[in-house]
Amino acid sequence: MKTVIAEHAGFCPGVKRAIELAEKSAEKYGEVFTLGELIHNERALERLEENGIHAVKNAEDANGKPLIIRSHGVPKSTEERARAESETVVDATCPFVKEIHKIAAGVPKNGSLIVIGDSAHPEIIGIIGNAECRAFTAKTIDDVCGIMEQDPPEPAVMVVQTTFDSGIFSEIAKAVTEKYPRVEIHNTVCTASKMRQESARRLAKRAALMIVVGGRSSSNTRKLAAICEGCTKTLFVTCAEEIPPQVLNGLQSDAVIGITAGASTPAYTIKEVHDKMNEEITKNNEIEEDFASLLEQDQSFNRLYNGKRVKATVVSVSKKEAVVEVGAKQTGYIVREELTNDPTADIEDIVKVGDVIDAIVIKVDDSVGTAALSKKRVDAQIGLEKLEAVKEAGETIEGKVSQIVKGGVIVIYENARVFIPASHTGVPRGGKLETLQGKTVKFKIIEVSNERGGRVVGSIRQANREVREADRAKFWESIEVGQKFEGEVRSIENYGVFVDIGPVDGLVHTADLTWNRVGHPKDIVKVGDKINVIVKSFDPEKKRVSLSAKDPEDNPWTKFVAEYAKDDVIKATIVSITEFGAFAQIIPGVDGLIHISQISTERVADINTVLKVGDVVDVKIIDIDDEKNRVSLSIKALSEDAPKSEEDAPAEDAPSAEDGE
Ligand code: F3S
Repeated sequence: MKTVIAEHAGFCPGVKRAIELAEKSAEKYGEVFTLGELIHNERALERLEENGIHAVKNAEDANGKPLIIRSHGVPKSTEERARAESETVVDATCPFVKEIHKIAAGVPKNGSLIVIGDSAHPEIIGIIGNAECRAFTAKTIDDVCGIMEQDPPEPAVMVVQTTFDSGIFSEIAKAVTEKYPRVEIHNTVCTASKMRQESARRLAKRAALMIVVGGRSSSNTRKLAAICEGCTKTLFVTCAEEIPPQVLNGLQSDAVIGITAGASTPAYTIKEVHDKMNEEITKNNEIEEDFASLLEQDQSFNRLYNGKRVKATVVSVSKKEAVVEVGAKQTGYIVREELTNDPTADIEDIVKVGDVIDAIVIKVDDSVGTAALSKKRVDAQIGLEKLEAVKEAGETIEGKVSQIVKGGVIVIYENARVFIPASHTGVPRGGKLETLQGKTVKFKIIEVSNERGGRVVGSIRQANREVREADRAKFWESIEVGQKFEGEVRSIENYGVFVDIGPVDGLVHTADLTWNRVGHPKDIVKVGDKINVIVKSFDPEKKRVSLSAKDPEDNPWTKFVAEYAKDDVIKATIVSITEFGAFAQIIPGVDGLIHISQISTERVADINTVLKVGDVVDVKIIDIDDEKNRVSLSIKALSEDAPKSEEDAPAEDAPSAEDGE
């Protein structure tokens, strides 16, 4: 027998933070008051009292002394009252709960909020007290259906108590999404709480007894107890003294006793329970050992029968089988096919002389004094249990593809066979599954059933998707304006090109492809081209990235202002003609506008009669707008008949160069 403490048990980060804030405040002010009990644990509360941290029901009871808002959070009105009563209010609301307050406060007044959880729990009261809309509470899918039948005002938003059973909430959320797709659902079960529940469930599944430690009024501890009760025999205690003396009665000698604890259970209480259980186990072992020695004296007790699980010592290994000693009168043997599921494995790599292995008896033949055993069936059972835990935890695991079968592939993981359907292999439809043979692949478990000796289904596709999602999340966390990428042109549209820059595709608008004028993006790039781009802007909500392929170092405007100035007379090439003037290229990437009024001293009715695209003309730079990157040119200014002063020049009321583009 052994005791195992669940991986995540006891104080959660939110409670730890609240206690630390209260202790620091008590140190600073000598005495502080918490609005309600900081944690649901009598002994821990006594210790807090000794340190000057007292619980009060109402803000008025603190007589103006510093007030602490506990991790559950409070309604907005309670916080306002606290601030009116006391000069110092320390908000120790757990950041996870604060997030829910924000969601609740964000529901429009004419909408509705559905909170899944215990309506009397202070956290729920606090959440509702931060909403301005109508609020409903529910615990089951039927409750939600009842609310929806009343036709609650829209938009309807659903949140959940942080410590609610995450498995039950997933079921509720799935059913609500199917029935009422317009309900906006936020899974606000907190990660710490989810991990505590999941590790308790995992441990409870393999434990013969679970001990749940925590305050009786603690809702999250009661939920833990309910989860454990669904899996195994469970004992709910508040401290080690409550463990009854006969606690181990009826348990097998190899039983696992699991211990988990609620979010407000201090580490010292968990340790006391752990020590007490170990003491009980030591006492029990002494009794068991006496019994075992009595059994050993009676050889006939070690009788083999089909299905019995035994410890077997390997005494010889051949290509076909391993001979084992099982402490009975029969000679045990395990044929190759019963050693492993992997047909490619070498028998000598699986067992060696002297190994002690777990095996199960499959056939006893007393006429010849032999017993056929199987190692792979025990391994498969253990593997199945492990795979069930892997599925529960949503972990990604690795295994080797050992076989290509009809409709998919078989991967061996810890001696258990995992079937991966073709549609989950990640091999495109019509592709060859044989390419996976012998490869080590990463996959997730999507189904475990005990039918017909155990069936496990995996998915490489889901594992790949998770990797891609993680890459995308990392990308959105780290992206910055100005960041450079080498990307590949994925597609070309009339307005620009989409470029693959890793986890996402970004858009390079036509105008951002090059510093020069562009007719159509396909004149510049083709699908598959590799181009260098920089991030212009991005929107993580809409998952959009706007890119530019223009290198700032090649900015022609910088070159232009370095080389040219107002009143310079230069040669320029007409590149386009519009109703209000002609655009002339000064250097590649910088065009100036010769306004219709600046073409000639004569009135020009139709520009095409005077200028045509490709003409090289002498022009004078009459204006440079450095802010808008615009240049105004004039042919008229060069003419002898041009007006001599600004007053004579016609009014500049026509559109500018940019306006014409
Ligand atoms: Fe916060 Fe989760 Fe604890 S919501 S108070 S960290 S259980």
